[in-house]
Amino acid sequence: MKDLKVLVIGGNGKTGRKLNKKLVDSGIETRVVSRSSEVPFDWTQPKTWAAAVEGMNAVYITFQPDLAVPGSQEAIQGFTDLAIRMGISRIVLLSGRGEIEAEKCEDIVMNSDSKWTIVRCDWFNQNFSESMFLEPILAGHVALPRSEAKIPFVDTDDIADVAYESFMDEKHIGQIYELTGPRLLTFKEVTEEIAAATKREIQFTELSFEQYNAMLRELQIPDDYIWLVDYLFTEVLDGRNAKTTDTIEKVLGRKPKDISEFIKETSATGVWNP
Ligand SMILES: NC(=O)c1ccc[n+]([C@@H]2O[C@H](COP(=O)([O-])OP(=O)(O)OC[C@H]3O[C@@H](n4cnc5c(N)ncnc54)[C@H](OP(=O)(O)O)[C@@H]3O)[C@@H](O)[C@H]2O)c1
Repeated sequence: MKDLKVLVIGGNGKTGRKLNKKLVDSGIETRVVSRSSEVPFDWTQPKTWAAAVEGMNAVYITFQPDLAVPGSQEAIQGFTDLAIRMGISRIVLLSGRGEIEAEKCEDIVMNSDSKWTIVRCDWFNQNFSESMFLEPILAGHVALPRSEAKIPFVDTDDIADVAYESFMDEKHIGQIYELTGPRLLTFKEVTEEIAAATKREIQFTELSFEQYNAMLRELQIPDDYIWLVDYLFTEVLDGRNAKTTDTIEKVLGRKPKDISEFIKETSATGVWNP
């Protein structure tokens, strides 16, 4: 595995950053790319892809904004074809659990002439600390639909560890790994745990889909992002994912990180102090 040269797409992000560190610490050559990297890579600009792939033989794919969005299949097909033509033989694809459209992108990679592993994840814990729920937490008011949905939030530490293992051992080739945390919680329960850990008052309000949609429009969130959020809340949170898997334990030989541990650690960093 020492001759691996891994292109880490989105390597400054929630999972890529941690995966890249593990690879580099093991002496593996990597190239981290995104729109702001020295060699820029943009999913919306196919002409940027070849320079990123040049000289590499493996790739960790994190697509933006989500494999479920319209146009993702064309991009994944185009990128995969190019990458294989340019010498990439190993692909680890980060995907979303319970997303039929994302599975079509997985199929493209699985049907390619590559050694692939699919890492299909439930909602990340880090959505509360590095992504869409951070701002509401800081504002002291989380307002969301689907407050009854039970979600097995998964930690990006575990996702990065599984992605790393996938590159390290050939036994992971041809596997679809469905990753969840060890417990089902609602958005309200997570908000309450964060409030308790930070000793802050954080209100939770249940919204209807219409109210949530109107709120996003009022905040001038772009239409394609509203489409994605709508899709995630209506389709993916319909109960299909309301169960945990034991995949992390099977792959890593240890228990997945509980969201309480994530909340304790994150609270200590001060990121949730307004
Ligand atoms: N969040 C969840 O709960 C969840 C659950 C399951 C699956 N996923 C999937 O995880 C993937 C994201 O992975 P992640 O969370 O590790 O990454 P991330 O933190 O969302 O983003 C990584 C980097 O992608 C770059 N980026 C944004 N737009 C881009 C574009 N058009 N082209 C190239 N790079 C772009 C950004 O850097 P620059 O600004 O420098 O470009 C960003 O720092 C998505 O496909 C998502 O569907 C997420």
